[in-house]
Amino acid sequence: MIKIGIDYYPEHWDRAMWEEDAARMAELGVHTVRMAEFAWSRLEPEDGKFDFSWLDDAIEVMARHGMRVILGTPTNCAPLWLYHDHPDTVQWDRSGRPTDLGIRGHRCMLSPVFRRYAARIIEEMARRYAGRPEIFAWQLDNELESNHCTCPTCTKGFQDFVRAKYGTLEHLNQAWGTVVWSGEYSSWDQIKPLLAPDCLPNWHNPAWMLDYERYGAACTADYVRFQCDIIRAFDPNAIITTNSCFCANLPDFHQEFQALDVASYDNYPPIRLPEDPEALTSNAFALDFVRSFKQKNFWIMEQLGGPLGCWGPISPAMEPGMLEGYALQAVAHGADLLSFFRWRTACTGAEMFCYGILDHDNRPNRRLAELDGLCRRLKQLPALDNTTIRSQVALLYSADQEFGLKNQIQSEGFAYWTQLRLFHDACMNLGVNLDILPEGASLDGYRVVLVPTHFITNPAVAAQLEDFARNGGTVVLTNRSGVKDQNGNCILGQPLPTAFRALCGCCVSETDAIGPARQQLTTIHGGTYTISGWCDLLVPETAAVWARYADRFYAGTPAITRNQFGAGQAYYIGTIGEKALYRALLLEIFREQEISMVEVLPRNVELTTRSGPGGVYRFFFNNSTHGCAFPLGSETVTLRPLEVKILTGKGEWL
Ligand code: GAL
Repeated sequence: MIKIGIDYYPEHWDRAMWEEDAARMAELGVHTVRMAEFAWSRLEPEDGKFDFSWLDDAIEVMARHGMRVILGTPTNCAPLWLYHDHPDTVQWDRSGRPTDLGIRGHRCMLSPVFRRYAARIIEEMARRYAGRPEIFAWQLDNELESNHCTCPTCTKGFQDFVRAKYGTLEHLNQAWGTVVWSGEYSSWDQIKPLLAPDCLPNWHNPAWMLDYERYGAACTADYVRFQCDIIRAFDPNAIITTNSCFCANLPDFHQEFQALDVASYDNYPPIRLPEDPEALTSNAFALDFVRSFKQKNFWIMEQLGGPLGCWGPISPAMEPGMLEGYALQAVAHGADLLSFFRWRTACTGAEMFCYGILDHDNRPNRRLAELDGLCRRLKQLPALDNTTIRSQVALLYSADQEFGLKNQIQSEGFAYWTQLRLFHDACMNLGVNLDILPEGASLDGYRVVLVPTHFITNPAVAAQLEDFARNGGTVVLTNRSGVKDQNGNCILGQPLPTAFRALCGCCVSETDAIGPARQQLTTIHGGTYTISGWCDLLVPETAAVWARYADRFYAGTPAITRNQFGAGQAYYIGTIGEKALYRALLLEIFREQEISMVEVLPRNVELTTRSGPGGVYRFFFNNSTHGCAFPLGSETVTLRPLEVKILTGKGEWL
């Protein structure tokens, strides 16, 4: 059965409240309670003096009410005594100075002293709790970002990282092209982490930044492994996760989660939906992305439970149906556990207006009633967790593309994630399941592979895509593919899309970074679509034309091509279009590949299917604040704003 969890902070509340809180949670049908991820100062109030008595009691209260605990390692917030006694445990910022304390997440994850203290508190916790039946799983730290700390330890770590990679400074200078602007290094200690916060990213050497991002991601993955090893030494069967979020400095999630058992994510979809349906990008992308970390079902460690009000002004109230709708949207994409943030809104601290399920008044409210309804609904679907998302369509992702495009913006408003989401949104609206795959993953079983902006060229991926097409698959590539080599430098002497030229059967004669300007293209079927961001002027070699530009000096020039390659084909999209363009193109491809679709879904209605030994469940989600109706076979389906309806394989609506 899909599990409902609650994020609970026993250390924030009078002990007298725990019993009643637990009883109310149990009455709802809550399975798991997450706790302790910020509680280090209560667990070790003084250096080496531990106090687990309160946590023992809190776990005991939950267990007595039939709930199991997801225990957080408390390393995100070290106690102030640690920072004070050991200033070298503090993270340094991009201006090259120690972070001012006061908020959270200030620990340097590489500091040897911090690691010693972190290892000790985790060991104490694991010795006491690992393997106990009350413990369901472990969450490491909190919302880990890529390590961008600039302290001396992390700086030295970066120097060692590139030294191990390049061996000699000559190789490094060559690989990074440091001759430009006299940036050649003559000793390893001249190599700096990413400093200069006021400097535009485009001013820095992109090859250096690419390796720096790879280093930061490797540090985060190492930190995860370090914590996992400690817990596993006490309980080799412990289930360990960490709660991911899509922060400014993204780690390489696929690398980070290698050491972990299950992917998890903090799911805060938008409370205020844009009026313009074109502006709405579905949160389903984030969910499918998280499923890709382990390529299996995942957990939500923090599910939106109330209006947000910590990182900005208080958001509007959640619309009726939103709490349940967003929760079921996560289930539709493979979530098997949803832990709601948080039980009751804090009365103290920075997050006192970041609402949980209950308000400060602690009385039953609309959100509690909705959560109750959700729990009842999930009880009717006991076998759902024995299903997953099966897809014939894959979308390739790699952290290298994210790093490369973030640090060297190609044109105003053009971002890697926007590209990914355009394809994703179109699949959701056609009711086609989509797997996001890390570059290099097996493509067996897929019929269509979507490859937006393969900027940093991976020759192995190019070869794999050729094989895939040769054997009958369809590949879709887009603009800014094949631009750079693995070092992050432009490829000399070959027309774009370089490694993908034969596959796509076309090349680029000129590029036009049009930024926010809006232009048009026309397809061979007569459809006209708005484009912006970028235009590659294409010269078909073996490819046929699928769409042509309608404006400027290149009106009539090919914009999208389609190339027969072996038994399959490859499309190349030289531009960035409005949503409807991707829908039209994918519709044609899915028809050719005989992928089943539902073509009548209104805009912003998504359909995802979970299937497996537990049955077949089709989730229809109205991701908008307007009601809608559409035909499905002989019936008419109606959906209220944010409503999810589930159709089982037996034809029952639930
Ligand atoms: C999350 C974080 C939680 C809490 C929440 C508030 O990003 O993990 O601890 O701060 O945001 O929205």
